[in-house]
Amino acid sequence: MTFTKRTHNCGELRTAQIGKTVTLNGWVDGRRDLGGMIFIDLRDRWGITQVTFVPQHNAEVHERAHELRSEYVLSITGTVQGRPEGQENKDMATGEIEILVDEFQILNRAEVLPFEIEDEVEAHEDLRLKYRYLDLRRPLMQKYAMLRSSVYQVVHSYFAEHDFVEVETPTFIKSTPEGARDFLVPSRIHRGKFYALPQSPQMYKQILMVAGFDRYVQIVKCFRDEDFRADRQPEFTQIDLEMSFVTAEDVYAITEGLVARMLKECIGYDVQTPFLRMSYDDAMEQYGTDKPDLRFDMKLVPLNDLVVNSGFKVFADAAQKGGTVTGFCVKGKAEYSRKQLDELTEVAKKFGAGGLVWMKVEAAEMKSPVAKFLSPEILAQIQSAMGAEEGDLLLIVADADKRKAQKAAGSLRLHLGKELGLCDPNKHALLWVVDFPMFAYNEEEGVWEPEHHAFTSPKAEDIEKMDTDPGAVRADCYDFVWNGNEAASGSIRIHDSAMQTKIFERLGLSDEELQEKFGFLVESFKYGAPPHGGIALGLDRVVAILAGLTSIREVIAFPKTNTALSLMDGSPSMVDERALKDLHLDIRKEEKKP
Ligand code: AMO
Ligand code: AMP
Repeated sequence: MTFTKRTHNCGELRTAQIGKTVTLNGWVDGRRDLGGMIFIDLRDRWGITQVTFVPQHNAEVHERAHELRSEYVLSITGTVQGRPEGQENKDMATGEIEILVDEFQILNRAEVLPFEIEDEVEAHEDLRLKYRYLDLRRPLMQKYAMLRSSVYQVVHSYFAEHDFVEVETPTFIKSTPEGARDFLVPSRIHRGKFYALPQSPQMYKQILMVAGFDRYVQIVKCFRDEDFRADRQPEFTQIDLEMSFVTAEDVYAITEGLVARMLKECIGYDVQTPFLRMSYDDAMEQYGTDKPDLRFDMKLVPLNDLVVNSGFKVFADAAQKGGTVTGFCVKGKAEYSRKQLDELTEVAKKFGAGGLVWMKVEAAEMKSPVAKFLSPEILAQIQSAMGAEEGDLLLIVADADKRKAQKAAGSLRLHLGKELGLCDPNKHALLWVVDFPMFAYNEEEGVWEPEHHAFTSPKAEDIEKMDTDPGAVRADCYDFVWNGNEAASGSIRIHDSAMQTKIFERLGLSDEELQEKFGFLVESFKYGAPPHGGIALGLDRVVAILAGLTSIREVIAFPKTNTALSLMDGSPSMVDERALKDLHLDIRKEEKKP
C-alpha cells in the first residue's frame, strides 16, 4: 500500500529505481558538509538512505540545507541515482544509490539531544529511560520491539491453529495470589474497598475451563508488587494458557510446539522436540538450582559416599548429618593463583557456602589445603568421580543442609560458567523441570506454602502423605527452563472442591479466609469442573532470551527502573487532596522511627 506523504521508505530503494522521482520522510541521522555538496543520511524504521544536496543542481535548496541538524524531521523529493564508482557502501542496503534532492521541507526541528541515536549508546540507563522516545529511536531498540511483535504474531497464529480461544480477563479483580504483594486500586463508589490488579489471571482461566471453553490463551499483563531484579518488573506480560481434559504431557507438547515455532520464525533457529525432562531432585543434585543452565556442562558430583568415613571432619560431618559434600571440576584451571582461589572462596560464601575446598590435580599429586586429612585412595576416588585430569581444578562445598550446599555449589558453577565464557551464545538449551515438591516450609512463619501456587494438584500417588509428611508430597507441576531462566511455569490443577478446600486448609487458611478469598472458585468447582491444567510463559523473558539479552527492560517499550519508577512520566506521583478525598483515603504522616 502506498501512503500519501511518501513514495518509499528509507530502507527500500535499490539500483532498479534509478531515474525515478521519489519522496522520502524521515530523520536526519547524520550530516556531512563537504565543501560544495551536503550529504544527509535520512533514517526511518526501515533503514537509511543517503540524500545529496548539490549547489549546481539546485542552489536555493542547497543553501537551505546548511541549516539541517541531527534529528530534524524532513520530507525530501528527488531523483534516485547510482552512486559514483567507488562511492558505494556495501554495508548499507541502500548503499548503491542516493537521492539527488530537488525539493525538501523541514517538518520539524530538534534540539540538541541528550545522547546520540546510535546502537552503541554510552548514556546511563536512567537517562535512556527518561528520554525513552529517543532511546527507542535507536535501530537496535526498534529491532527488539519488532522481534517482540513477531512473537505476538506467532502466539496468535499458533494458538488459532490449535483451536484456542482468546479471552480477555479483567484487570480489576479480587486478589489472585502468586506469592507476591498485590497492587491495589481503591474504589470510589464502594468506600473502603479495593480491587486488586491480577498477579496472573490464574483463577479466571480456571473458571473459563468450568465454563467449557476447553482451550484458552491470552497475552496478558500481570502485576506484582515485589522487590526487583534484572529479570523482574512490577508489570510484565505472560502468554497465559489453560486446557481441559489434559495431562502434563499435553501441556509440554503444546508449549514445545510454540517455543520451536518462535525459535524458527523469529530467529531462524532449529530445535528438536520433545525437550529434555529433569526431576527437581536431579536438577538440584547436578546443577544446584531448579533452573539449570545446560548451555555448558560442569555438573555437580555428590561425594558423600567417598568422604563419609574420611578423616576430614568438615566433609565427614556434612555427609553423616544427612547433608551433602558436592562440587565440580573446572577444566584446566589448576593454574589458578592463591589470590584467585581466595576470591572464589569469598564468592562461594556469598552464595551461602560455609567454605570452599579446592583441589588441584597435578602430575604427581592432588594439591589442596585439606589433602593431609584425606587418604591418597580417597583423593584418587574423588578425582575419578569428578572426571578430573591433570591440570584441572576441583571445587567442593560441604553442608549439613543438603540444599544449601547444592545451591552454593550451583551458584558458583554459574558464576564460573559466565566468567570463563563457557556458554555458547548461539546455543539454546531447553528443558522441563518436573516433580517439584508440593509444599515448602516457611521457617520464619512456621507454615507450609505452595511451591507453585495453591491451585496445583498433588501427584495422585502422594495424596496419602498430605497429612503425615507434607514435605514429601510432589506436585503435578512443571517449569520450563530456557538458557538458565525460568521461562514458564504451570501445573495440572485441582478440579475438585473438596480437594481444593483440603489444600487451602493445609496451607493454614481458615474457613472464613477461604470463603472470603477463594469462595467463588471453590463454588464453581461444584458445578461440573472438568479436569484441567495450563502454563504461563513470561513473554518479556522469552523475547529477551530470543534477543540474546539478560535484561528484560531492553525488550519492554516503557519499563520501570529497579525501584519501580517510570522516569519518563515520573510515576508514581502525588495526587491532589481532592482525588484522595473522592477515594476516601488519607495519607498517614511518616511514622517516626523509634
Ligand atoms: P508464575 O508466577 O511462575 O506462574 O509466572 C509465569 C512466568 O512469568 C514470568 N514472570 C515474570 N516476568 C517478569 N517479571 C516478573 N515480575 C515475573 N514474574 C513471573 C516468569 C514465570 O515463569 N498462574 C501461573 C501460571 C500457571 O500456573 O499457569 C503463574 O503466573 O517467566
Ligand atoms: P576449617 O576447619 O574451618 O579450618 O576449614 C578447613 C578447610 O575446609 C578450609 O579450606 C575451609 O575453606 C574448608 N571448609 C570449611 N567449611 C567448609 C564447607 N562448609 N564446605 C567446604 N569447605 C569448607
